[in-house]
Amino acid sequence: MTLHASFEPATVGTMPKRFFEEREDQSEVKARIVSKYFSVWARIIVPRARAQRVGYIDLFAGPGRYKDGSASTPLMVLALAIADPNLRSTLVTIFNDEDPAHTRNLAEEIAKLPGIETLKYQPVIRAGDVGGSIGKSLQTIGLVPTFSFIDPFGYKGLSLGLVQGVIKDWGCDCVFFFNYNRINAGISNETVDEHMDALFGARRAGQLRTALRGRTPAQREALILEHLAQAIKELGGKYVLPFRFRNAKGTRSTHHLIFVTKNVRGYEIMKEIMAKESSTHDEGVPSFEYSPADATTPFLFSLLQPLERLADDLTERYAGRTMTMLDVYNGHHVDTPFIKKNYKDALLALEAQKRIVADPAKRPKGTFGDAVKVRQIVTQCGWRDALRQWVNENTKERPVFQGDARSGTEELCSMSIRWSCRGPGPRGG
Ligand SMILES: C[S@@+](CC[C@H](N)C(=O)[O-])C[C@H]1O[C@@H](n2cnc3c(N)ncnc32)[C@H](O)[C@@H]1O
Repeated sequence: MTLHASFEPATVGTMPKRFFEEREDQSEVKARIVSKYFSVWARIIVPRARAQRVGYIDLFAGPGRYKDGSASTPLMVLALAIADPNLRSTLVTIFNDEDPAHTRNLAEEIAKLPGIETLKYQPVIRAGDVGGSIGKSLQTIGLVPTFSFIDPFGYKGLSLGLVQGVIKDWGCDCVFFFNYNRINAGISNETVDEHMDALFGARRAGQLRTALRGRTPAQREALILEHLAQAIKELGGKYVLPFRFRNAKGTRSTHHLIFVTKNVRGYEIMKEIMAKESSTHDEGVPSFEYSPADATTPFLFSLLQPLERLADDLTERYAGRTMTMLDVYNGHHVDTPFIKKNYKDALLALEAQKRIVADPAKRPKGTFGDAVKVRQIVTQCGWRDALRQWVNENTKERPVFQGDARSGTEELCSMSIRWSCRGPGPRGG
């Protein structure tokens, strides 16, 4: 397997002039998410890479340093490689940018990195426009296990073909920058149909345009991301994880980082990383967003009680089953905002409420190990909803839930309906 790419001749495109003046918090968060994942991914993949090479590709690499002197992602990734003996001898890097001034600057900055000469494979730096042909060539060439970062300013150059090209081979994951602001505006703008079709696929882009009519901003965002995730999943990107950035006031979304992998372990690792970079957590459940404004309004985010919702969902989904904590987590976490710790907290709360029995019951306080068995999960929804409806229809009382939830059968729970209500219950009991 080889790692190479062909590039079109360099062209200079438009770009926000201020971007490289100084690194904003958001760029810092973005660079941290990418470099942290690269570091963990490499530790897992390097020993398993048959060709004894792994890759890092950044097709929109920038000039290397911001004007304030802070390092950008390419330099951070190379510094990690220099510090790691396994990566020094295996990592192949390709950096591309359409602006030759950027690639020149990047080459100079890379040359200044202490220890750069210790890398077995010196970085390949190219100036070229990531247009149609690179997406197409990446779809056909084989890649060694590679982590790719696709970081354009807007949507130009970003396509499903490109994403598929960089994730199709074993051990290949990618993160791409999704400029929500511009794509949200572009999806209804005929003059950029070509770019939108490249991003969502022509058929799906058409469906999306229809679906977006008359929607609120929040609904638009959810629909756009949903269509994007579906398009990526159709192309083999089994797990898709977005992380949202908001504007300075925290009032609207500006862009997302979208992580794509075929491997659930990669998904879990990135989820933990993005969780730590989230600017708010509600009962320990991460927001998966960075909003500069959240630091000043932390209380707004503690009203949603997501752990209670998780606990209710688990009791409903796994009613009557016996399974380990790890089975519960593995069977539920994909496409949810919940991380492993949230499952442990939810199960601890359920145990305290006697809605589950944990085995072993005697454990260090506040712990719920992966192998702890969760027995006799008590369903709530069916009988509670039935009771609530019956009480509403037949009495003026509020329903009172009694009974021994620990014994965990619907039959027993139905008995509590009789205890708490006068007259025949919803099951005629
Ligand atoms: C957001 S910056 C990249 C920042 C960099 N990844 C980092 O972490 O610091 C986007 C870069 O993409 C380059 N660019 C924009 N359009 C491009 C295209 N079509 N092909 C290649 N590079 C492009 C710009 O010159 C700019 O340097």
